[in-house]
Amino acid sequence: MSTICAFHRALFTSRNVIQSGKGGPRMSKLVPQLFSSFNTATRRNFHSMIRTPLRSTPKNTTSQSWRLLPAIRKSASQATSPALPEYTQKAIGWWLVGCSGMVFGTVILGGVTRLTESGLSMVDWKLFKDMKPPRSQEEWVAEFERYKQFPEYKYVNEQKEMTLSDFKFIFYMEYAHRMMGRMVGLTFLLPAAYFLKKGWVSKAMKPRLAIYTALIGFQGFLGWYMVKSGLQEQAKPTDVPRVSQYRLASHLGSAFLLYSLFLYQAFNHLLPASKLPNTHLKQISKLRGMSHGVLTAVFITALSGAFVAGLDAGLVYNSWPKMADRWIPSDLLSHFPAWKNFFENPTTVQFDHRLLAHSTVALIFGFWLMSRRVPLPPRAKLACNCLLGMVFVQATLGISTLLTYVPTHLAATHQSGSLVLLSFAIWVAHELKRMPK
Ligand code: HEM
Repeated sequence: MSTICAFHRALFTSRNVIQSGKGGPRMSKLVPQLFSSFNTATRRNFHSMIRTPLRSTPKNTTSQSWRLLPAIRKSASQATSPALPEYTQKAIGWWLVGCSGMVFGTVILGGVTRLTESGLSMVDWKLFKDMKPPRSQEEWVAEFERYKQFPEYKYVNEQKEMTLSDFKFIFYMEYAHRMMGRMVGLTFLLPAAYFLKKGWVSKAMKPRLAIYTALIGFQGFLGWYMVKSGLQEQAKPTDVPRVSQYRLASHLGSAFLLYSLFLYQAFNHLLPASKLPNTHLKQISKLRGMSHGVLTAVFITALSGAFVAGLDAGLVYNSWPKMADRWIPSDLLSHFPAWKNFFENPTTVQFDHRLLAHSTVALIFGFWLMSRRVPLPPRAKLACNCLLGMVFVQATLGISTLLTYVPTHLAATHQSGSLVLLSFAIWVAHELKRMPK
């Protein structure tokens, strides 16, 4: 209240100065003083506050005061809007869209690399040296010889002889995935350095950039940590050499997390928040809470999918809705101790993924029904509709992948579908987020 009074005093003094025609140099001191006495709490009413006294000014107001109004208004907008110009925030937003797009592409390429059994073809990891693939025939032969020392070659070669050109194919798949990972790093780091140098990064964004950098580095480390697990001798010589499902799920989960963070911040920079209605406050708050639940459910279902992929559990029961002719398969808890079934028994892992996926479909459908009862702005409505449509597409893709014994094209599409679904869930959460007061 005292700030408002101080503000009014300063304003009226300034008006008198203007009206007396003795403005000039004194005004240039007075206007900043006026704004400095004006704290954040009163900023929201700022425009109405200036308009009121000036509008009630008698008709004899000098033209000087009206000439000063734009200057006052300009200062007002500087006080209320963020210090960084809008175009800098748009540039950062589009850059983050680019980063999330690169992560999306790398995840899909990683999925195809796994599905074509190419992931174990490069048997070491060097950040810079790996960037040059073998060129001459001798280099290729030497690389192939190194691969032959590892269990995967021995296993595959027993089924069907592997030629050098077969090896070149799997090598290039893994090489492309690793190079794309490096490109994600560059797509992020180079513009980040530029934006920081230009001073375009807000204070709140700076720690986030540090987190993204750490996550990108961690992602690379997890990738190699995962590959290493597939290069070890198997417990039984008959076991298929494959990477640890725990490490695969961590690698995929951390990529999904990075993707989500990039995309959510991109939305924050590019999409101005829609104004939610002032009515239906209880339902909106419930809907907002539910949108976080939806996001979590999609994330957990995707993680459980990584366990299905890691254990080749999509090949154990290829029927739907029942697993063979039972709702609950008999070998559901055949491993000991019981908790291991959830991560190491292909039957249980597939069962869990189905259960989680069906619950996610039900949750999203419930969420969508609830969203219909609230007069949401058109963009928020569109986001809810897209989310509902996509969860049905995703479930259909999952079922088709299962019924057709996991062909590469369907499994890869199902994996991309999970990222699209996650994107819609993030969009919905963004549309419903609480506005800062
Ligand atoms: C909300 C719905 C769903 C989500 C978010 C989801 C997500 C995922 C993800 C992220 C993967 C791992 C892909 C990879 O790393 O290559 C996966 C794998 C899989 N999912 Fe789903 N899924 C959903 C629904 C379903 C349904 C309803 C089924 C079938 C009943 C299903 C069957 C499978 C199968 C068989 C795989 C293994 C594919 C492979 O080996 O590459 N999914 N899922």
